[in-house]
Amino acid sequence: MLIPNDFHALVIGATGALGSAFSKHLQLDPRCQSLTELSRKSHPGFELGSPDAFADIAQSLKPPDALSLVVDASGALSFLGRGPEKSLRALEPAQLRLAMDVNAIGPILLIRALMPLLKQRGPMLYIKLSARVGSISDNQKGGWYGYRASKAALNMMLQCTALEWQRTNPQAQVIALQPGTVRSRLSMDFVQSMPTVLSADESVQNSLLALEKLQAQAGAQFIDFRGESIPW
Ligand SMILES: NC(=O)c1ccc[n+]([C@@H]2O[C@H](COP(=O)([O-])OP(=O)(O)OC[C@H]3O[C@@H](n4cnc5c(N)ncnc54)[C@H](OP(=O)(O)O)[C@@H]3O)[C@@H](O)[C@H]2O)c1
Repeated sequence: MLIPNDFHALVIGATGALGSAFSKHLQLDPRCQSLTELSRKSHPGFELGSPDAFADIAQSLKPPDALSLVVDASGALSFLGRGPEKSLRALEPAQLRLAMDVNAIGPILLIRALMPLLKQRGPMLYIKLSARVGSISDNQKGGWYGYRASKAALNMMLQCTALEWQRTNPQAQVIALQPGTVRSRLSMDFVQSMPTVLSADESVQNSLLALEKLQAQAGAQFIDFRGESIPW
């Protein structure tokens, strides 16, 4: 059971399909003492590609108490008007760099900036939306170079974070979450051929249920919305 009791929560990327569904479900949870939202449109706002501003943003956020539950549901799949690359020939340096900035470097530097706001002792859960396609061992189809690589890089950094935090707070838990294939702005051009497409509500409801049942462990956990473990 990973959801802390009486938590103060932060949802990052709260304007997205999954981010807004997380906000909604957490707000309805009687254990939720406060909920702070961060997005490009909030005040302060944030831009994943501009990490130099993160320290000031973290200082301006004023949650009423130390955060014990954070969900970062930000991320992107298409960049510069281009969808994910299907072949080596389609690779563009600027697109690859942006994927890394937005899906890996931005999120980990945001974690670093938020550290003073996080609960330092006792149960603390940091959930970052990752993607199954970031699993190297599960990659059977290839393609989607930048998105896959950025999520794989993210996963490695989440594992490093979990191991580092657990040295001082053994009850800190880090989750790399695959939400399933979910209808959203990010996915809308790519889900037509998918057999099962979830609503953000279904995904978040199932993910929160799965997190209730999940056992704490050393290091980060890479799981899907049903709580099933995904190989790194
Ligand atoms: N949907 C799926 O099927 C699926 C599958 C696997 C993993 N995921 C992951 O789930 C997460 C949420 O995706 P979603 O489906 O909910 O997509 P979404 O509805 O498009 O939401 C994406 C969120 O990320 C924010 N964002 C994007 N680029 C940003 C930037 N440069 N700086 C700051 N914020 C930025 C968006 O802000 P704005 O509202 O300002 O644009 C929005 O809040 C992503 O990490 C994605 O990789 C989704």
